[in-house]
Amino acid sequence: MQFVLSQLAAAAAYLFSSSSAQAGCPDYSSFSEQYHAPFSSGRYNLSYMRPAPACRSFNSSVVEETIARMQTVIQDPDLFRLFENSFPNSLDTAVKWRGFAANDTEQELTFLITGDIFLRKDGWTDVAGISNAMWLRDSANQMQSYLSVLTANSSYDSLASLYRGVINLQARYINLGPHCNSFQPPVESGLSPQMNQVLPDVFTPAISNQTAFECKWELDSLAAFLEISTNYYETTGDAAFFGKFEWVSAIETILQTTKNLLVGTYSSNGSVNTIPYTWMRETTTATETLDNLGRGNPVKDGTGLIRSAFRPSDDSTLYQLFIPANMMFARYLESSAKIMAAIGGYETLANEMDSFAASIRAAITKWGIVTHPTYGQIYAFEVDGFGSQNMMDDSNIPSLLSAPFFGYLNVSDPVYQSTRTFVLSEDNPYMMRGPVISAIGGPHEGFGMAWPMASTIRIFTSSDEAEILGQLQEIVSSTDGLGLIHESINSFNQSDWTRQWFSWANGLFGQCLLDLETRMPAVLQASFQS
Ligand SMILES: *[C@@H]1O[C@H](CO)[C@@H](O)[C@H](O)[C@H]1NC(C)=O
Ligand SMILES: *[C@@H]1O[C@H](CO)[C@@H](O)[C@H](O)[C@H]1NC(C)=O
Ligand SMILES: *[C@@H]1O[C@H](CO)[C@@H](O)[C@H](O)[C@H]1NC(C)=O
Ligand SMILES: *[C@@H]1O[C@H](CO)[C@@H](O)[C@H](O)[C@H]1NC(C)=O
Ligand SMILES: *[C@@H]1O[C@H](CO)[C@@H](O)[C@H](O)[C@H]1NC(C)=O
Ligand SMILES: *[C@@H]1O[C@H](CO)[C@@H](O)[C@H](O)[C@H]1NC(C)=O
Ligand SMILES: *[C@@H]1O[C@H](CO)[C@@H](O)[C@H](O)[C@H]1NC(C)=O
Ligand SMILES: *[C@@H]1O[C@H](CO)[C@@H](O)[C@H](O)[C@H]1NC(C)=O
Repeated sequence: MQFVLSQLAAAAAYLFSSSSAQAGCPDYSSFSEQYHAPFSSGRYNLSYMRPAPACRSFNSSVVEETIARMQTVIQDPDLFRLFENSFPNSLDTAVKWRGFAANDTEQELTFLITGDIFLRKDGWTDVAGISNAMWLRDSANQMQSYLSVLTANSSYDSLASLYRGVINLQARYINLGPHCNSFQPPVESGLSPQMNQVLPDVFTPAISNQTAFECKWELDSLAAFLEISTNYYETTGDAAFFGKFEWVSAIETILQTTKNLLVGTYSSNGSVNTIPYTWMRETTTATETLDNLGRGNPVKDGTGLIRSAFRPSDDSTLYQLFIPANMMFARYLESSAKIMAAIGGYETLANEMDSFAASIRAAITKWGIVTHPTYGQIYAFEVDGFGSQNMMDDSNIPSLLSAPFFGYLNVSDPVYQSTRTFVLSEDNPYMMRGPVISAIGGPHEGFGMAWPMASTIRIFTSSDEAEILGQLQEIVSSTDGLGLIHESINSFNQSDWTRQWFSWANGLFGQCLLDLETRMPAVLQASFQS
């Protein structure tokens, strides 16, 4: 009991220090639950949700110019308000600290928090405070929102510097804890670590809770590092940057970690293999822990697929051969091999990356494409290699729906198109339908909770004007007047939503409207007032 009380006291102390850190600036988790003038002039009367200029966590003139331009491009006042609030959200609110590495004054660091992930006493209950944690997946994707305005720039004030800082800090994190999904502030920041749970999680390999915030093994976390590296390199051509700090060693860590996780449950003679990762949490929620003493359900040896104990929702997998993360990892390993080759002097490593990516692609085709009685040949969400398949899709990225968005395959791929029809149908057990919004959800927020992030990915993967307009109408009309993208929304009641401050989903929506501006400009001239 003593222990419980001290943890709650630590959380309370944090809340105090957070509000006093930016004097006069409201805590954004409270700010984003309240309505603020000026309201949009449309029928949805959407709140203005940007913090006052003095309270924004990063200023970018190119982002401000983009918002000003889109005011003339987006005709509907509510849709524009949603863009104006959501696109800059990560820069406005989530850049918690920037600086340089203590042992290297050239190495930029960016600590980018996810928003309002709460510290919890157990499972889902007993909220004790807001955490300061950086997720590998979220931070890579928060930066991806600004990819279309990124240009090569060595200035510390630039978006390029913000990108470099995220890549450097992620590389450090991966070298320290390659199985972890989220991390504590860097020591250089002076921000104090906080405990995610009151009771320590039980997992191997061990890592200090002063370094990792949570250590759920999610293959897509490492894929996210490859994604942000690819995005920065392909846009700036700055190969020299990748040779300077911990990037090459992080790639070596990634290869070693993922190759060790090709292992199945039993060896060929039936002996039980030692596996490099186990996890258990004391909880009442099945998706927060792993069965079989932290090892998960059995998977077959020798498939060539990398295991993932958890999904991008941070929920445990039913079968660890999780197809979307294998797709995303293979796709960005290919593009990262080009970075490795461009640095110079690492041809062997670049070739190893290429051949590993090719072997994962072959394994996805062999084990991940299954025959559904109604939809024919489609991608499974998870398989075990023994013949079991989990047929569903979840809203978080990587998902099956988002496979062309992250560039694993072409949207016109016939297996993808059949998969897309399945995951958007009522045959997907996590498709949430209702009068407010119909979208893919998932076990993370549960039955009836549709995720607008999945509606956004539906737009990214469509060139059907009617489908896109329908999704935009649902998104713009279901924010409960708050004018931000929530994590999930009750498909029958828009006042019942989760996460007032989900920075990634907001940035993704902004990115989506910028993509529509180039791909389908006519839809941005539509009215959503009827
Ligand atoms: C807009 O919403 C705000 C906050 O709920 C409310 O005070 C205001 O009256 C609304 N305006 C209109 C025109 O509905
Ligand atoms: C952003 O600009 C405003 C002035 O418009 C300033 O008050 C604020 O300190 C700046 N924020 C940062 C992080 O530099
Ligand atoms: C700084 O520390 C990291 C982690 O210990 C190490 O990998 C890196 O080589 C160091 N850099 C310098 C310039 O000493
Ligand atoms: C680099 O970024 C800074 C800060 O955003 C900007 O003032 C400057 O014009 C940029 N330089 C180039 C060459 O784009
Ligand atoms: C954090 O780590 C310390 C040292 O290993 C341990 O005593 C403590 O129980 C851990 N706390 C939590 C909540 O994980
Ligand atoms: C069974 O196979 C494992 C893995 O290849 C090996 O380490 C072990 O020695 C084998 N045991 C027997 C009894 O052959
Ligand atoms: C997808 O395939 C179509 C038809 O073959 C082609 O026109 C298009 O360029 C491809 N798109 C990508 C992103 O490769
Ligand atoms: C809708 O959700 C809100 C917030 O949870 C709740 O207060 C309200 O009672 C719900 N409305 C209905 C009709 O269930």
